[in-house]
Amino acid sequence: MAGYGRRFVRLLSLLLLLVLGNASPYVRPPARKSLSWPFSSTTPTTDPQQVHVSLAGPKHIKVSWMTSSFSAPSIVKWGTTSGKYDFTAQGESTSYTYVTYKSGLFHHVIVGPLDASTSYYYRCGGAGPEFSFRTPPPAGPQVPITFAVAGDLGQTGWTKSTLDHIQKTDYDVLLFAGDLSYADYMQPLWDSFGQLVQPLASARPWMVTQGNHDVEEMPSIIKGFRSYNARWPMSFDESPLTSNLFYSFEVAGVHVLMLGSYTDYAENSPQYSWLQADLAKVNRTRTPWLIAMLHAPWYNSNTAHQGEGDAMMSAMEPLLRKAKIDIVFAGHVHAYERTTRVFLKNVDPCGIMHITIGDGGNREGLARSYKNPQPRWSVFREASFGHGELKIANSTHANWSWHRNDNDEPVLADDLWMTSLSSSSQDCAFVNK
Ligand SMILES: *[C@@H]1O[C@H](CO)[C@@H](O)[C@H](O)[C@H]1NC(C)=O
Ligand SMILES: *[C@@H]1O[C@H](CO)[C@@H](O)[C@H](O)[C@H]1NC(C)=O
Ligand SMILES: *[C@@H]1O[C@H](CO)[C@@H](O)[C@H](O)[C@H]1NC(C)=O
Ligand SMILES: [Fe+2]
Repeated sequence: MAGYGRRFVRLLSLLLLLVLGNASPYVRPPARKSLSWPFSSTTPTTDPQQVHVSLAGPKHIKVSWMTSSFSAPSIVKWGTTSGKYDFTAQGESTSYTYVTYKSGLFHHVIVGPLDASTSYYYRCGGAGPEFSFRTPPPAGPQVPITFAVAGDLGQTGWTKSTLDHIQKTDYDVLLFAGDLSYADYMQPLWDSFGQLVQPLASARPWMVTQGNHDVEEMPSIIKGFRSYNARWPMSFDESPLTSNLFYSFEVAGVHVLMLGSYTDYAENSPQYSWLQADLAKVNRTRTPWLIAMLHAPWYNSNTAHQGEGDAMMSAMEPLLRKAKIDIVFAGHVHAYERTTRVFLKNVDPCGIMHITIGDGGNREGLARSYKNPQPRWSVFREASFGHGELKIANSTHANWSWHRNDNDEPVLADDLWMTSLSSSSQDCAFVNK
């Protein structure tokens, strides 16, 4: 009997080891269930839903929302005093169908010119409840700014936890590394995701790039990004783009490149030509910080999604290294990882720091298993949910921190001061090996 018992315990621990993987010393909690939503269709209303804002060029913000009524006007009224709206702007609206699903009407209105670091009060469609956002700090190389950084959110109990933690930080702009709703073809889940993030995304600009879950293509029936493009358009008049899948913007002393992992990136592609032209316009005196964001990581020592960013990396890494990019953020892998400055898999003081932040809390759970030994370029890796904060202090210094969800508490788990490559005394001349 005793022998049986011991054998059973040994078998059990072996099974546990197999399930949990033997690399991670942390035993993190499992995925949480998706939040449930009432999908009952009510009579169409002009009440704004899924309100979110994004940066739309210097001194301008795009306000986006959905109404179930198609007769709601695409206007925003705003002002600096609650209840008093001195300004009005008119925008445009769009809708889409997806097999049997018929969307509501999505309104996109650019408001401005706006003052920096100022709270504005606004109403969507000229009626309904009042919302408020704060504009980011002004342009300037020495201007401090705080970014919240997240990826792969979905809409589970863990998502809620991550959003709660982000809401408590005093951030200026959120950078989102793709895989927003995890609707995965179930279009009403895009609506519930919009509602879930509204308290945050209506109050601060959210800048997003696409992930694989945002594609939702049905070959020869429905083109990719139908829902994503209708709901989260990031292009604006000042940036003459033909695609919503890659763009750039400047805020405070930072030039941000939002790249597309799920649209062409090869040397003859529109994205590649755009990137070359955009990098040529960067002025490191004006924007000493240069950062990029994409979905499928280029440097990843987790066993999940190995190699998926390789083709894009071989196409674009030399270009980014030459431009002296400070950080590339990625999502996709549901864990956190930070590299040293690296180029062509070698530690390089003039290379790029890569940060994987695909740990927003979606229903697929954590990616717990790592490749061993840990590559030399990998500095910190952990399979936990959480979010990041990038606090630019001035033209030379920034504090990066990662906050993991310890159950429902945010705990600072990785942080460092980094210096911008534009201020580096290194000779960062580019040699194409
Ligand atoms: C770069 O920006 C600085 C500061 O705004 C400006 O003085 C300088 O003329 C710019 N350089 C170029 C080449 O445009
Ligand atoms: C930039 O910020 C860092 C960190 O706060 C500080 O140590 C440094 O003195 C600042 N540099 C300038 C030029 O203000
Ligand atoms: C960086 O910022 C975080 C978040 O505000 C803070 O908790 C941490 O102490 C800072 N790290 C350093 C090294 O100053
Ligand atoms: Fe993904």
